[in-house]
Amino acid sequence: MADGLSGTFTTKPTVGEMNKPEFNATPIQADRGFRIINQLHVNRERERALLIAGLLASPAHIEPKYFYDELGCTLYAAICQLDEYYPTRTERAIFQQYRSEISAKIAEHGRCGTFVDLGAGDCVKAMSWLPHIQPKRYLAVDIAGPSLATALANMATEFPETEMVGLVTDFSLELVIPAGLLLERTTLFYPGSSIGNFTPANATQFLVQMRRHTKGGGLLIGVDAKKDKRRLDAAYADALGVTAAFNLNALRHINRVIGTDFVEAQWRHVGAYNEPLGRVEMYLESIIGQNVIIDGHARGYANGERIHSENSYKYTQAEFASMLREAGFSNISVWTDSEQAFWVFYAS
Ligand code: AVI
Repeated sequence: MADGLSGTFTTKPTVGEMNKPEFNATPIQADRGFRIINQLHVNRERERALLIAGLLASPAHIEPKYFYDELGCTLYAAICQLDEYYPTRTERAIFQQYRSEISAKIAEHGRCGTFVDLGAGDCVKAMSWLPHIQPKRYLAVDIAGPSLATALANMATEFPETEMVGLVTDFSLELVIPAGLLLERTTLFYPGSSIGNFTPANATQFLVQMRRHTKGGGLLIGVDAKKDKRRLDAAYADALGVTAAFNLNALRHINRVIGTDFVEAQWRHVGAYNEPLGRVEMYLESIIGQNVIIDGHARGYANGERIHSENSYKYTQAEFASMLREAGFSNISVWTDSEQAFWVFYAS
């Protein structure tokens, strides 16, 4: 194995996967053109305690990661196809229109060593970049090992010149990439405006962590822009109710993870732009007075009481550029669409 890294490949179920069968991917994929490193050391007891504390707190809150069980990932993919949810297709259009220009920026100081895809999922977004960037190594980072393995098997066939590596980790806590995996001029790729799901302070911290991994390369990142409240409200409370299902599904997931007895039908989805705070807020709102058994005790939720489930921060171009500078980036380029609905930044 290159870099002397060990490739343990038994993915323990994460909080998001506790009800999935254990994932033993054998053999090690060297023969299939890729390898996977598992860095997931989930402290299930701590995750459970934090989740319970959030549900018992007033106001109650959960981490957005509880959206993403298997059904939640499917619902998120459906959200990305909604007319109202513009970020995915707007980012894709910017990538398509400016692909050569962006690729030239990335190659300005030489060929990209490692192309790190943060939250790679099915690796589809990265796949459109590889022919242009031709990195020496593609490093797909995600919390979900099984889908990484499937995606990397396809990538290895399609891009035989690039070394394919998967890293299974929860980088929302801290971005730790084994140093040996990062070649000179690493490009970090963080699309989809996922940075918006951090608070601005945590986002800046995360940008600092990303900068430390670039090794003379840079960061290619998608960021959602501040805009008209009506458009943002519609994007997070769509007419078909897909975002509502995505939000409510977190309750089903939590029931499986910690044995609570939430009844989805007794909750409703709330998603709206809080203009003064520059963020979309999502909540699960109780539609009756009810008791839920949490960790063996009844927690009463009043009619109208809410559980906060997600923030999605939106930034002006200047705001995000200033966060990049604060995180230590200096050479900053930005591309956008004709309505300035979304930003793509490259910073080195
Ligand atoms: C993953 N993340 C960037 C999405 C967002 O827009 O904040 C999650 C999402 N929540 C509701 N719709 C989409």
